[in-house]
Amino acid sequence: MVDLARLALPLLRLLPPETAHDLTLRALAGGLVRPVVEAPDPLLRTALWGRDFPNPIGLAAGFDKNAKVPDAMLALGFGFVEIGSVTPLPQEGNPQPRLFRLAEDGAVINRLGFNNEGLAAVAARLAARRRVVAGTGGIVGANIGKNRDAPDAVADYEAGVTAFAPLADYLVVNISSPNTPGLRELQRRREVTALIERLLAARRAASPGREPPLLVKIAPDLSEEERGDLADVALTSGIDGLIVSNTTVTRPPDLRGGHAHEPGGLSGKPLFALSTALLAEMYRRTQGRVPLIGVGGIASGADAYAKIRAGASLVQLYSAMVYDGPPLIRRIKDELAALLARDGFASVGEAVGADL
Ligand SMILES: Cc1cc2nc3c(=O)[nH]c(=O)nc-3n(C[C@H](O)[C@H](O)[C@H](O)COP(=O)(O)O)c2cc1C
Repeated sequence: MVDLARLALPLLRLLPPETAHDLTLRALAGGLVRPVVEAPDPLLRTALWGRDFPNPIGLAAGFDKNAKVPDAMLALGFGFVEIGSVTPLPQEGNPQPRLFRLAEDGAVINRLGFNNEGLAAVAARLAARRRVVAGTGGIVGANIGKNRDAPDAVADYEAGVTAFAPLADYLVVNISSPNTPGLRELQRRREVTALIERLLAARRAASPGREPPLLVKIAPDLSEEERGDLADVALTSGIDGLIVSNTTVTRPPDLRGGHAHEPGGLSGKPLFALSTALLAEMYRRTQGRVPLIGVGGIASGADAYAKIRAGASLVQLYSAMVYDGPPLIRRIKDELAALLARDGFASVGEAVGADL
């Protein structure tokens, strides 16, 4: 067994980031990372969409794009795991290097461009997992994208919904990655309305009677008009939630990392304020009637708590794992439980939107 945090993490940090990521996935898939044995804290249990989440801390999309290690990540203590983004056909993504650490900033820049094995391979993995865990496993969502050269973007997302609706606990329509040209234009009112209508129909056809929640993941770089439009769409279109947010193409002026000017999406600590402000705004605009998942720059229990108080029913993280490794999950849960207790909340749900 490898104690990833103490032994392997400093070594992994010496490797190019993509190599380190591949090695980490191999270690997880090979059962080399010790699962966490701990009793779930009842204060952190939370129910949403008729499902029980053992805790509200999830692994964000992009870490396990091909669904190779969802159960290993759940065993590390995440309350839920999102696999993907997956496109209909396998694709290589952008040329390397395309993933950069900004250690001084606790940040990452990526321009991977949806490198993934495609729907058939990933759906087969989820189907195999489903046979093994048969309803007893943890919550795994599937995040879907479109191929870079897709002639019909909507058809690509439809294929994702059709493939994953019977296999995933929730579905995420990723129209906010900055690394696929034209993708974020699907966030405009007309485009997103038409897209959602088709995807809700595809979901109904693929999984009648057991339709998983369908969420839309949005960018932190939207105009005021786009933010208003998306809030309206979230309220009226029949989707089940929003994920706020994806990476940003903006660069705060105080970034110190040498790679700060690499093109791509910035994540980690410098994204926290921007994504949390958008989260609070979407909560306000939707009057708390649309479940929100808050993601962007979470690296502590206080960060997770701030997202929850700003309106998140659940939260996710990725970049902080690059720097802190698996022990971070336990720490965030302990800190969050202590903050909830300090402020007299008996559950996560009670604290959702408390700041607004
Ligand atoms: C290397 C990397 C790859 C990512 N790939 C995806 C992806 O495929 N689909 C997606 O919706 N988000 C992707 N994301 C965005 C994350 O899911 C998350 O929204 C973002 O990183 C902000 O969270 P964080 O600050 O905790 O990392 C990726 C992020 C990183 C760092």
